Amino acid sequence: VSIGSGHPRIRSAIVVLSAAALAAVGAVAVRTPTADAATGDSLGVAAEKAGLFFGVAASPGRLSSIVGREFSQLTPENDMKPDTIAGSGGSVQNTGNADTLVNYAQSNNMIVRGHTMVWYSQAGSLQGTGQSTLNTFIKNALLKWGNKIAYWDVVNESLDDNNTGKRRNQWPHTLDKDSNNDGDYFDDADTDYIRDSFKQARQVVQSNGLKTKLCINDYDIEGLTVKGGAKNNKSEAMYQIVKKYSQEPYKYIDCVGFQSHFNDNPNSIITDDLEANIRRFAELGVEVHLTELDIDDDLSNNDIGSGQAANYRKVVRSCLNVPKCTGITVWGISDSESWRSSERGLLFSGGNGNYTKKAAYTAVLEELKKGRSTTSPSPTSPSPTTPSPTSPSPTTPSPTMETGCRVAYTDNTWNNGFTAAVTITNTSSNTIDSWSLTWSWPGDQKVTNAWNATVTQSGNQVTARNGGHNKTIEVGGTASFGFQGSHGGDNPTPGGFALNGSPCTVS
Ligand code: G3I
Repeated sequence: VSIGSGHPRIRSAIVVLSAAALAAVGAVAVRTPTADAATGDSLGVAAEKAGLFFGVAASPGRLSSIVGREFSQLTPENDMKPDTIAGSGGSVQNTGNADTLVNYAQSNNMIVRGHTMVWYSQAGSLQGTGQSTLNTFIKNALLKWGNKIAYWDVVNESLDDNNTGKRRNQWPHTLDKDSNNDGDYFDDADTDYIRDSFKQARQVVQSNGLKTKLCINDYDIEGLTVKGGAKNNKSEAMYQIVKKYSQEPYKYIDCVGFQSHFNDNPNSIITDDLEANIRRFAELGVEVHLTELDIDDDLSNNDIGSGQAANYRKVVRSCLNVPKCTGITVWGISDSESWRSSERGLLFSGGNGNYTKKAAYTAVLEELKKGRSTTSPSPTSPSPTTPSPTSPSPTTPSPTMETGCRVAYTDNTWNNGFTAAVTITNTSSNTIDSWSLTWSWPGDQKVTNAWNATVTQSGNQVTARNGGHNKTIEVGGTASFGFQGSHGGDNPTPGGFALNGSPCTVS
């Protein structure tokens, strides 16, 4: 196969092919062809080509045809919250609306984000219960839908408002105990409902062989700073939680959701360091999602920047520029049907299934079609954990290291499909003028579509060749590309990476 073309016909063929492949294993029905899908003009299709999902929050009453046509992911806006589905003792009940949404997603080849398990608000019969009831609910909710849910928000909105950098003080935070009074809940002797909830979720996922990824979700954590340039303490607090519980020995957290309800609140504006903050979390190895995106179009005091379409463009670009930013979800279809209708924050106007695309829609589609960037992190956004792209890595070489190239490979896997992001770092002392990266699949994976490189596959051997714009890799510099693939139920990480014939270190 020779892939990497952005031609619409090829793109729609890919959609049909992947849907058909999934249908063959009984997972989904083929997506209904529509005029827009035929031309490839759909947010979900454009996003898929760039290696991320583009989703929407909805309730069953909003499932007009636009949902399956435009979006590749679905979040129940209210129907999986505990006040709807939690029964006594952590049981799961009343899942009719949630089932409708999950079934719709499956029929339309969309992935689902479960929203949400442990939350101070809309807690229903979980309100005030202890960890063991929460654990029962976590288990029941995970097992109810299994792999039909790609991502679950296990813990939602755990952090305080007003940039305090503290946790909230109402239930479930009341379960927490800081045993040594050192101001955190990270010590072994501490009780931490975030740790314990994720521990339970991880245990259920592992012992049942699920692929569901476990996320923590919050708002006002999007920027490194807030209005006026002050540090975003809430984001820093989230970073410490994700850093702690995504790493060894825990490995509980797979993904972090930046809700991204952008408005004129000083802590909710769009800051220029959004991309740097996404990158900071991504460098912990977790996926980053913008989970509830809407952008206030009230420009009366202009804090969030001028022009809703431009703001959408900026936010989407910030995600696209970070390979581990693997999904964006808008919090509703049209302004009039939004939880914040007065702010007109969404991509469509109109209502009741009769929608009109706004300028913001066009901006998002255009940006998605441009795909991922191969540019290095901006100089104004240094990462505390990653060396500058222009300077070689200062890490001490291990005996097996410094082969001249380093490859970072991450994948985002669901049912029988996956996307992967690959970054090559030139760790040699010479500029690379053009490159081809080879590897072999340990399983039956097949690359179906690629961007920022031309990828060919023969048997289990894959070759990725540079595009025109990323052929040169300076000393210490990087080049990135991505692709989409299929797999037969298991997606082991590839090995044997070699750049221009020389083996690479894998990080
Ligand atoms: O369905 C009833 C309707 O029958 C009744 O007449 C009406 C009277 O108030 O209420 C309707 O239910 C409302 C429900 O939305 C459906 O529209 C609830 O009152 C209202 O509280 C609920 O609001 C939801 C809100 O979460 C609750 O906290 C919003 O739809 C939903 O968009 C919002 O979503 C949250 C995320 O879960 C977490 N992040 C923030 C985000 C926005 O607040």
